[in-house]
Amino acid sequence: MKILVTGASGYLGGRLCNSLLRQGYSVRVLIRPTSNLSDLPPPSSSASLEIVYGDVTDYASLLSAFSGCSVVFHVAALVEPWLPDPSRFFSVNVGGLKNVLAAVKETKTVEKLIYTSSFFALGPTDDGGVADENQVHHEKFFCTEYEKSKVAADKIALQAAANGFSIVLLYPGVIYGPGKVTAGNVVARIIIERFSGRLPGYIGSGNDRFSFSHVDDVVDGHIAAMKKGQIGNRYLLTGENASFKQVFDMAASITDTTKPIFSIPLWMIEAYGWLSVLFARITGKLPLISPPTVNTIRHRWEYSCEKAKQELDYSPRNLKDGLAEVLLWLKNLGLIRY
Ligand SMILES: NC(=O)c1ccc[n+]([C@@H]2O[C@H](COP(=O)([O-])OP(=O)(O)OC[C@H]3O[C@@H](n4cnc5c(N)ncnc54)[C@H](OP(=O)(O)O)[C@@H]3O)[C@@H](O)[C@H]2O)c1
Repeated sequence: MKILVTGASGYLGGRLCNSLLRQGYSVRVLIRPTSNLSDLPPPSSSASLEIVYGDVTDYASLLSAFSGCSVVFHVAALVEPWLPDPSRFFSVNVGGLKNVLAAVKETKTVEKLIYTSSFFALGPTDDGGVADENQVHHEKFFCTEYEKSKVAADKIALQAAANGFSIVLLYPGVIYGPGKVTAGNVVARIIIERFSGRLPGYIGSGNDRFSFSHVDDVVDGHIAAMKKGQIGNRYLLTGENASFKQVFDMAASITDTTKPIFSIPLWMIEAYGWLSVLFARITGKLPLISPPTVNTIRHRWEYSCEKAKQELDYSPRNLKDGLAEVLLWLKNLGLIRY
């Protein structure tokens, strides 16, 4: 059985490919000529790994990549806090999914499409509750263009499911854990800022809530969805719900270092975000913090993964154990010191 993975050069996709290869699957990855493959085994060392070049915005490249595959994991997306040309979020995240759906339909061998959505597609939980797969995004506002594009893509995926398409929709929370430090690996990037002293205080007052998913739990959830995910179903692959303040406190306790002694108000982080965006426009280097990112911290994003636990045997680890692993990993890489 041949499995195709898009986004294999990214944080989650790379981790997924490595796990599939370890489990003996034959994997074909669709990557771009510019993709950095540092987290994948060298193709010469693994007869089970095949590389094909393409782009999710290039339909013909998807058609030839999917040929002969039984399963497609569509993990690729543009995952950035901000881009100078926001229309790119729609062309890649929405246009890319449309192309993938059409190419799967035309490739007669593909039996199942596993689509990686995001908790953002379900929308915030500002009423203080914990949402499940039945929540629909209110669409009254979007914190980021990325969120807006994932909501639009989700509607297309749900419509495909309603039309009988063989698709399973997965919704990870904020993914953290070892792996490539891309823009998608937000927790590692924030921990690096915190331990380097560049982020001396808490981010805001700690009213934010996010659901933190360990990358390897999310990978296991993807593979379980391939094996036993019910066609047309949504599964939240989330984890412990916590604030970034709690993450900082846990990190301090794990590393026996001091907790921040003050909170940086969100208006100040937002002002820094505007400066970062200005800097990015001049240098072309994308910012870590942008005003849209700060918007997400003003809301709550709490979810339950009970359905995935019941049906996929999804078993998320607790945040403290996961963070202990991340901190040690970053320390061993020389990216933080404690
Ligand atoms: N990170 C999170 O916290 C999080 C949370 C929930 C959901 N998700 C979802 O999980 C998925 C993976 O996210 P990630 O964190 O692993 O992101 P990532 O590290 O930024 O990886 C994104 C991947 O998509 C590829 N890609 C981007 N544009 C492409 C295009 N036009 N054609 C083909 N490939 C393209 C990238 O290729 P290059 O290497 O060539 O750029 C890269 O392999 C995404 O669907 C994201 O929405 C992520």
